[in-house]
Amino acid sequence: MNTESALILISGLPLPVLVIGADARIAAANEAVTAVFGPDLMGRHHISVLRQPGLIAAISAVRQQGARQITRYVHRDGQKDLRFRVTVAPAGPNIVLTFEDQTAAEEAGQMRRDFVANVSHELRTPLTALLGFIETLGGAARDDAQACDRFLGIMAHEANRMTRLVDDLLSLSRVEEDERVRPKEHVDLAALLSSVIKGLEPQTSAADVSVVLTNRGTDEMVPGDAGQLVQVFTNLIENAIKYGASGAKVEVTLHPRAHHQRLRGDAVCVTVEDFGDGIAAHHIARLTERFYRVDNHRSRQVGGTGLGLAIVKHIISRHRGRLQIESELGRGTKISVYLPIS
Ligand SMILES: Nc1ncnc2c1ncn2[C@@H]1O[C@H](COP(=O)(O)OP(=O)(O)O)[C@@H](O)[C@H]1O
Ligand SMILES: [Mg+2]
Repeated sequence: MNTESALILISGLPLPVLVIGADARIAAANEAVTAVFGPDLMGRHHISVLRQPGLIAAISAVRQQGARQITRYVHRDGQKDLRFRVTVAPAGPNIVLTFEDQTAAEEAGQMRRDFVANVSHELRTPLTALLGFIETLGGAARDDAQACDRFLGIMAHEANRMTRLVDDLLSLSRVEEDERVRPKEHVDLAALLSSVIKGLEPQTSAADVSVVLTNRGTDEMVPGDAGQLVQVFTNLIENAIKYGASGAKVEVTLHPRAHHQRLRGDAVCVTVEDFGDGIAAHHIARLTERFYRVDNHRSRQVGGTGLGLAIVKHIISRHRGRLQIESELGRGTKISVYLPIS
């Protein structure tokens, strides 16, 4: 096949493809491959283009043995490594290289492994505590009624923590499952917020915080899933109570409909603001990652699982909305939820 017809053929392929001629120079290259190796590849010696010993060895092996080889190629793209699986195949006097980007699949695999490791760790801690107390209750503390009472209290606390973790894991997987399905109901946000705040009264009075709801004039129905929006605002207001208690006050505000540039349309905004310790800037971008907490110990003490904001993020993205977190150390935290209308 001549160069021209080879070029026409591979230009239609979505994968990066290179053809090396019998003279060891690049005989054809498609558009996708120039994204990896840069422009003007034609006629260059393949070693000066490909540079990685593993790949060059595979090409010599194909040349000598005539059998196809599979190898890997790692491309540094700015901050990120792209990992390719490369098929090096003989094609008459030529050699054809096809690059398959495996980066996303490898990252997904890594995320899955990290997630399982995190879940196991989170469950193991309360389980270890429970097993320890069961042993103590069966032995040394058997006849000490006071100690028994105290230990049973701690055991109930640890068991509750595991329940919360399992509940949050189930919510997360449910939310991820229907993330692509747009909510069909219409929700009265003002009523929903006041019922969430009412439901949190026990926590509010225990933390000695007052939660104030202000409606700046939104009586519109917002397209949304009421159950999920209850989850969003319960978690945000609960966080403000738990982590912002030193500010003694939480302000929940429902803002009127306004144009939102990033959402390319009208949206209503709910802000949840506390005046507590705030969050250092370098944590903010990571808060919505699963299990990410600023202070592990403190989160566990107040009954946190580290999954709340991950669930919030998925629900808001299902609603095609936006979550914005602003915070200043010593000043407090303001979380804004934008939900598109229409
Ligand atoms: N209003 C807030 N003020 C200070 N820190 C907060 C606030 N909201 C969330 N955080 C931090 O973000 C972390 C993640 O929140 P979340 O995902 O809801 O987990 P959890 O509440 O289970 O700890 C919390 O552990 C806490 O460190
Ligand atoms: Mg939370």
